[in-house]
Amino acid sequence: MNLMNPIQAEQVTIELGERSYDILIAPGLLGRSESYEGLPAGRSALIVTNTTVGPLYLEALQRALAGHYASVRAVALPDGEQYKTWETLNLIFDDLLASGSDRKTTLYALGGGVVGDMTGFAAAAYMRGVPFVQVPTTLLAQVDSSVGGKTAINHPLGKNMIGAFYQPQRVICDLDVLNTLPARELSAGLAEIIKYGPIADLQFLDWIEANLPALRAREPSALGHAVRRSCEIKAAVVGADEREAGLRAILNFGHTFGHAIEAGLGYGEWLHGEGVGCGMVMAARLSQRLGLVEADWVERLVRLIAAAGLPVVGPVLDAQDNAGRYLSLMRVDKKAEAGEIKFVLIDGPGRATVRGAPDALVREVVDASCVVV
Ligand code: NAD
Ligand code: GLY
Repeated sequence: MNLMNPIQAEQVTIELGERSYDILIAPGLLGRSESYEGLPAGRSALIVTNTTVGPLYLEALQRALAGHYASVRAVALPDGEQYKTWETLNLIFDDLLASGSDRKTTLYALGGGVVGDMTGFAAAAYMRGVPFVQVPTTLLAQVDSSVGGKTAINHPLGKNMIGAFYQPQRVICDLDVLNTLPARELSAGLAEIIKYGPIADLQFLDWIEANLPALRAREPSALGHAVRRSCEIKAAVVGADEREAGLRAILNFGHTFGHAIEAGLGYGEWLHGEGVGCGMVMAARLSQRLGLVEADWVERLVRLIAAAGLPVVGPVLDAQDNAGRYLSLMRVDKKAEAGEIKFVLIDGPGRATVRGAPDALVREVVDASCVVV
């Protein structure tokens, strides 16, 4: 498409036939009108953001979109994982219906993964589908959640259990917006970056280890490389298995344990990336106990996760039967089949496999990985 040559954006394409789209990566993209050229035409756009991101970036996005639509509206959702619910989703539908938005209205998701997942779901459902664009503002959203078309809200009984596969028209990763991200959120994004190493690219894992200080210091070239390589890996996996018939599940390394932590503590207590970080520790230890990977390699991964500022010790979710609580929460995971939990495990460094494991081994791993606080 060569759309961004004038502003020198890196471009990664997700190849999905007629639903293919580009991820653009560069500093300064969000506020530039050129970033939004060539998107589906329509009279109106609705920017969905939240009460934290809106004050920082909404005005710039509204200005950039002004030349593309006759009307650019905005809705600011409450901020937090605990608001990833039907009630909050309805705020988007309320605005769309009250404003007479039509089938050509484009939704813009301006925020992190929570805003992105909810906006995508709203776009999939409003009038059975309207175009949407991801403008991710967290590191986690730039390297993972804005890419690949998974959209969802949470249910009290399980995370991301209600949703749809629905691809955006474009993803705009402006590296400058990462400068306002709290350090804890930056670390959460690093978890999803680290994830790509063990499952797909050991050279990238080496690179992350070597460049962790630069990433944590938000050096633009380091962040740019991390976002691009992460998106390349994700694009290849999603291009091969959009709807998670098999391969795509490897992107959930660490997520089975992580989702149990998030749901067990109550959404919003631990960040999603923190659950994934600690979940990778548990999944790697389970891989080791199954004889798939060496202890030294697991400990190297644990050190990297800790050095990224992420928790490597799990929370106790039940004082009486902690491992039992983890197991019951994990049975609600989307990968579970007929009640059998499927784990993404490391089958030798750089290669992932999805399979079950005996409850007794899972219990050992949980017991070895959690402490009472
Ligand atoms: P988030 O959306 O809650 O954002 C984290 C926090 O940072 C929020 O308080 C937000 O307001 C704030 N924020 C966002 N951008 C900012 C900026 N530039 N400056 C200052 N503050 C900013 O969390 P997240 O980590 O981005 O996303 C987590 C969500 O993504 C979870 O709900 C998870 O399930 C989902 N997810 C989805 C996928 C997918 O494939 N769809 C993949 C991974 C995660
Ligand atoms: N974040 C996992 C996936 O997109 O499949």
